[in-house]
Amino acid sequence: MFPLNQWYVAGFDWELQDRPVARTLLDRPVVLFKNASGEVAALEDRCCHRSLPLSCGTLESQGLRCGYHGLLFAPDGRCIDVPGQARVPAKACVKSYQVAVRNQVIWIWMGEPANETTRSEPPEISAHDDVRYRFKGGVFHYQAPYQLIHDNLLDLSHVGYVHGKTIGGNARTHMEAPTRVSGTGQHVHVVRHMLNSQPPATYTAAWPFRGRIDRWQEIDFHVSHLNIFTGAVDAGSEPIDNPDRGGFHMRGFHGITPESATTSHYFWTMACSGHPDMPDNLEDVYQQTAATFEEDRIIIEAQYRNLRRFPQPAMVDIHVDAGANRARRVIDDLLAHQHQAALS
Ligand code: FES
Ligand SMILES: [Fe+2]
Repeated sequence: MFPLNQWYVAGFDWELQDRPVARTLLDRPVVLFKNASGEVAALEDRCCHRSLPLSCGTLESQGLRCGYHGLLFAPDGRCIDVPGQARVPAKACVKSYQVAVRNQVIWIWMGEPANETTRSEPPEISAHDDVRYRFKGGVFHYQAPYQLIHDNLLDLSHVGYVHGKTIGGNARTHMEAPTRVSGTGQHVHVVRHMLNSQPPATYTAAWPFRGRIDRWQEIDFHVSHLNIFTGAVDAGSEPIDNPDRGGFHMRGFHGITPESATTSHYFWTMACSGHPDMPDNLEDVYQQTAATFEEDRIIIEAQYRNLRRFPQPAMVDIHVDAGANRARRVIDDLLAHQHQAALS
C-alpha cells in the first residue's frame, strides 16, 4: 500500500515535550518521545508485558515508563527496570525504529534494516535553517489516502478555484499557466510561471508589491514529502528563473505520511522571506497558509468520499494532471518492486 524504504516524517521536534506522542505511521502504532538528554526515540506502542500502549506511560530521564505496572524502556526499546523484581527478563524489549532529527523534522525509517542501498541520510529541509527565512508549521490529519494529497500538491492549477481568499488570484491565470514537468528516478519537478498577474491576498498582506507581479511555483516531489517554492517579484523587475532572485518567497514543506491505506498525516511548514517594512509577515503567512490547507483538506476528503461512492471511476485526464500522474507512476513502480521482493 505504501513504499516502505523511505524516510517518512513522524513529527516535529517541538511536538515532543514532557509527554509521549502516539501516532500510527504506515499502519503501525508508534510512540515517540524524547529523553532527558534530548535523544528522540520511536518504539512500537505496545508494552511487552500486558500490551498497554506505552503512550499511556510517563517520561523519565532514562526513558518511558509503562503506565500499568511500571516497566521502564530505554530509547532503544530495551526494558531496563521491572519494579519489585531484580532481574529484567531477557525478552523484555519492544521494537524500536530508526529515527533522525534534521532541521527540526523527525524522520522515521520503517523499511528494511539499514544497508547501503536502502538507508541514506534523511532529507534536508534547508529553509528551516536559512537565515533569509522564518518558518512555522503544523500537523493535519486527513480522512483520505496519501496519494490524493500528492495529486493536490503537484497540481497547483486548483489554487484559483480553491484558495480564492488567500493565495489564489485569477482562476483562469492559474489554469492557463505554462507548466513544465520533468524528473529523474523517484523525483518529479513541476514549474509554473504566471507573469504579469494580479497578486493574491496573502502576497499583498506580506509584501509591498507595487502592482502586478511575476509569480512562480516550483514543486519538488519526493516519495515521502514535497518541497514547494512559490513567490513573486514586481512584474518585469527581474527574471524569475534566477536562483538568487529576490522578492517574496514562500518555501513550503509537506511531509505526507500514510497513517493507513485510507488516512494520512500531513506535516507542514511554511518559511517566508521578511521585508524591512513588514517584519512581522510570518504570522500572517502562517495563518493564511493554515486556512489554505484546511480548504485543501475539505476538498480532498470530499473527493475521497465520492471516490468510495463511485468505486470504479472512469477519470478523465486534462493538461494539469501531468505532474501528479508522473508521481503516481513513481509510486506504482516502487510498490511493484516491493511486491516482487516480498514474493522472492
Ligand atoms: S502492561 Fe506495561 S508494565 Fe504491565
Ligand atoms: Fe491547495
